[in-house]
Amino acid sequence: MSRFQRTLVTAALPYANGPIHLGHLAGVYVPADIYVRYLRARGQSVLFICGSDEHGVPITLAAEKEGISPKELVDRNYVGIRDSLRDLGISFDNFSQTSRPIHTQTSQEFFLDLHASGNLRQGTSQQFYSESAGRFLPDRYVEGTCPHCDHESARGDQCERCGTQIEAETLIKPRSVVDDSAVTLKDSTHWFLPMGDMQPWLEQWINSKTDWRENVTNYCRGWFRQGLGDRAVTRDLDWGVPVPLENHEGKVLYVWFDAPIGYVSATKEWANDRDDPEAWRTWWQDDSTRLLHFLGKDNIVFHALLFPAMLNAHSESYIVPDNIPANEFLNLEGDKLSTSRNYAVWLPDYLESFAPDSLRYCLARNLPESRDTNFTWADFQARHNNELADILGNFINRTLTFVEKYFDGRVPEMGELLDVDRQALAHLDTSIGQVERLMESFEIRAAAEALLLVTKEANRYFDEVQPWATRKSDLARCGTSLYVCCQFVRAFAGIWAIILPESMEKLWDALNIPGNLESEGWPSKERRLPAGHPVGKPEILFQKIEDETIAAQVERLRAATQ
Ligand code: 2FM
Ligand code: ZN
Repeated sequence: MSRFQRTLVTAALPYANGPIHLGHLAGVYVPADIYVRYLRARGQSVLFICGSDEHGVPITLAAEKEGISPKELVDRNYVGIRDSLRDLGISFDNFSQTSRPIHTQTSQEFFLDLHASGNLRQGTSQQFYSESAGRFLPDRYVEGTCPHCDHESARGDQCERCGTQIEAETLIKPRSVVDDSAVTLKDSTHWFLPMGDMQPWLEQWINSKTDWRENVTNYCRGWFRQGLGDRAVTRDLDWGVPVPLENHEGKVLYVWFDAPIGYVSATKEWANDRDDPEAWRTWWQDDSTRLLHFLGKDNIVFHALLFPAMLNAHSESYIVPDNIPANEFLNLEGDKLSTSRNYAVWLPDYLESFAPDSLRYCLARNLPESRDTNFTWADFQARHNNELADILGNFINRTLTFVEKYFDGRVPEMGELLDVDRQALAHLDTSIGQVERLMESFEIRAAAEALLLVTKEANRYFDEVQPWATRKSDLARCGTSLYVCCQFVRAFAGIWAIILPESMEKLWDALNIPGNLESEGWPSKERRLPAGHPVGKPEILFQKIEDETIAAQVERLRAATQ
């Protein structure tokens, strides 16, 4: 028996410096949402938290480029990100902003708590400084040559080419990204989290995790081998959460210190919105809550080491993550996605031309769970046309058409089950169990494949029992086979809904089943459709996507990078 009574799921907070693209979706939001929908469908208590990450250099740089204030930039982008994710069916319980007062208060409280217990140390470090601008240039304000792979435009915090985290002062030929001028090093006083002191606890904790993905534990072990050092948690910037101490003007919390606290502040906001302000504690400070972080591999260090160290050091008893199902990256037509080169498919653009469920399914089948994967428009079209339309849509349509035409729109009597019927129903039950096991172990991609396989099996059954023939020769036999098909359709509405919420909601409505699909739709032996139950027919759920439509997308991608 698990000791957990509820699950808090977080999805990495997207930077509010631009729209969401396919890489974000495959790495974080689609798998997190499918998982959350699965838990809800199984009747579990779950809270799904996210928001936009609105501090740090990516934001100030984007605002400077547009000539607007950071707050104007993040408020505008927040709305775009929130709405596009909602339109894709990503079902957050709260999607907040880290520029809101509740987040400032929560982050400052966290900092002061660690400060009071001696878990932060003051020190002096050398920071890049621009003489021409008269200001410090933290993180991405500086670019230079990567000391690991010689990439000439490595950023001051990370090299985009080799993925290595970088200490800015190790860059070769550093320069300001604001005006390309040379930069000098200057002393600055900062606060540091002594991660070295926390390494023994972190190591013992990570070593106790036998069910985590290997990419996550291996990554942490790599860090342990190097030895964790002090990590600066403040920056010389005027945009961010102000350091809540006297004489700290011009200093804010490092964005990677405040961003994960955003999960806590977004939970507090959710609790306040429900007029139950203390409810957030049940989700963060109660051992019977299971905490899961969904994220891409570039975020592992912050969620597997930095944030747990912070949570563990806090004087109140915060829980730490039970699992971190981190994903590798999604490539696009064989190349790395790049926002700076505009080589991406942006979610708002996608939603202008296609239905949300098609992308959710295509990405689910391609999730980069254990290795980088590739999105191509040809694959997207094939999965939509050949799998959603020809297999799932076709099965639903042919079953409900037969029921409408020959059984007065009512689920036929079960009649006498033959072996072929019993085997089909047993196969359905086994497949549902298999999907459950795969979902429990975060094998979402395999679960999506299992869903397709059982749907193929339903079509195979339909072909084998030939209702078009038995309708003339033996109507009762025809009824029995359609009774079986109706049970498949009923089950598909429930299980496919975790990936295809919009389409399955339409199907659910047509099936006239009382109750809520999201929380009561998961199929079981007790949830079969009874004989005589009236069923309608939804509109065609998946219209074929034409070649020209796909060609236009390929061309759009090519033109964007010219
Ligand atoms: O990598 C990113 O896009 C970050 N904005 C993720 C932050 S996750 C969390 F810590 F907030
Ligand atoms: Zn590099």
